[in-house]
Amino acid sequence: LLRPPGGGPLAGKRVLVTSGPTHEPLDPVRFIANRSSGKQGHAIARAAADLGADVTLVSGPVSIPDPPGVTVVHVETAREMLAAVESHMPVDAAVFCAAVADWRAAQPGEEKLKKDGSGAPSFSLVENPDILATIAKRTEARPTLVVGFAAETEKVIEHAQSKLARKGCDWIVANDVSHAGPGVGVMGGDRNTVSIVSQAGVENWPTMGKDAVATRLAERMAKQLKDTQW
Ligand code: CTP
Ligand code: CA
Repeated sequence: LLRPPGGGPLAGKRVLVTSGPTHEPLDPVRFIANRSSGKQGHAIARAAADLGADVTLVSGPVSIPDPPGVTVVHVETAREMLAAVESHMPVDAAVFCAAVADWRAAQPGEEKLKKDGSGAPSFSLVENPDILATIAKRTEARPTLVVGFAAETEKVIEHAQSKLARKGCDWIVANDVSHAGPGVGVMGGDRNTVSIVSQAGVENWPTMGKDAVATRLAERMAKQLKDTQW
C-alpha cells in the first residue's frame, strides 16, 4: 500500500458490503441456495478497505477466505442478512452484492424430512425481504450512497434502470451475463462486464477481473462521497 496509515480517499468513511449467497432451510440438513461465489462482493470490501474505509462485510456462506482489514459478519439466511445489515447502520455507503435467495420455505421441517412412502414433499415458498430496497428506502439514516447489483441476460440496461427505480438505490452495477466469453460474468468466474447505471446515465466499463471492477468501483464511490459532501 502506498497510502500512509489512516489515509486514502475513503478514510473516515463507513462502508457496508453484502456478499455471497444466502441459504434458506428446508429442514435441519437441507437448504435452497445459489451459485454465488462471493468473489465480487469480497473484492469490493477489500478494495474499499484498501482505500482507507472502515468496512463491514456481511457474507452468506462462501468457501473463500475473509478479506484482510475488514470486519466480517457471517450469516446464513436472507432474514439474518437483513438484521445484520440493519444493526450496522448508519454507514456512508452500502453495496449490495449478495445473491439473496428470493424465496424461502414457508414452514421448514423441524426434523429431517423422511421418505415415508407417500411420495415427494411439497413446499410452499414465501418471498424474502428485499435488503437493498429496505435500506435504500429508509427515511432516517439512509446511506449517502446505495449501490445495487443486477445480473441480467437480456435488455441489461433496461432491466437495470427499472431495478434502480423500483428499489430506490443510487447506482445499479449491471452485469451482463450473456455475451461474454468463457468465465466472464458467470457466477464463480473471475471476470465481469459491468455498466454503472444511475439517474445521471450509463457508464459502460470494459470486461475486467473482479478485483479490477472492485477497485474501480471503490474509487468511483470515493469520488461520489467527496462530491456529495458539504
Ligand atoms: N437484493 C436484496 N435482497 C433481496 C433480493 C435482492 O438485497 N431479497 C439485492 C441484490 O443484492 C442486488 C439487487 O437487489 O443488489 C438486485 O438483485 P436481483 O436478484 O437482480 O433483483 P430482484 O429484485 O430479486 O429481481 P429478479 O431476481 O427477479 O431479477
Ligand atoms: Ca433475485
